[in-house]
Amino acid sequence: MAVLETVVIAFWAMLPAYVPNNAAVLGGGGRPIDGGRTWGDKRVLGDGKTWRGTAAGIAAGVVLAAVLTVIEPTVSDALGFDVPAFEPLAALGLAAGAMLGDILASFLKRRSGRQRGAMFPGLDQLDFVVVSLPLTALLATEWFRTWFTLDVILVVVVLTPVLHVTTNMIAYKLGLKNEPW
Ligand code: CTP
Ligand code: MG
Repeated sequence: MAVLETVVIAFWAMLPAYVPNNAAVLGGGGRPIDGGRTWGDKRVLGDGKTWRGTAAGIAAGVVLAAVLTVIEPTVSDALGFDVPAFEPLAALGLAAGAMLGDILASFLKRRSGRQRGAMFPGLDQLDFVVVSLPLTALLATEWFRTWFTLDVILVVVVLTPVLHVTTNMIAYKLGLKNEPW
């Protein structure tokens, strides 16, 4: 039971960080963040990181956090244990951190010579956790301490790659994404 609670809290708490990547796929396009610039003979970030996709991702994460916060009392009541309501800074940290992590991953992919869309196992699945958790801890320290206990963080690290692989496979099958990772 305690394990199930931890999994539900981890999933709920991470939703505002999970959704931005998918929203960026739907909302992406237009001017790339790096403006086409290169570093050495490689693109800084590549055409896969756009201003529009990033803004859509952050907006989607923050809006979702607001919706979850509105329904939180009802959901906690129904579950018989508390899931988190999101403070504005926690919502921002999770959503913006997810997009930042994804951008940082693209930067590292380009430096290692990988083309846009190339796979980078490990980094692809955890890039947004690595930035969103520290950023949220920085922006909403007390909130983070309350909800992201060590067991929750552990579940996040295990659950995230599984969810990431599953949702990207679905997005690929639906023709929304060019590659299944
Ligand atoms: N996207 C975007 N802006 C972002 C992140 C994603 O516009 N900040 C859109 C792009 O259309 C991108 C798609 O979502 O092609 C899929 O995202 P992702 O897999 O992260 O990008 P890739 O195209 O695979 O590029 P990279 O190799 O740099 O990860
Ligand atoms: Mg990709």
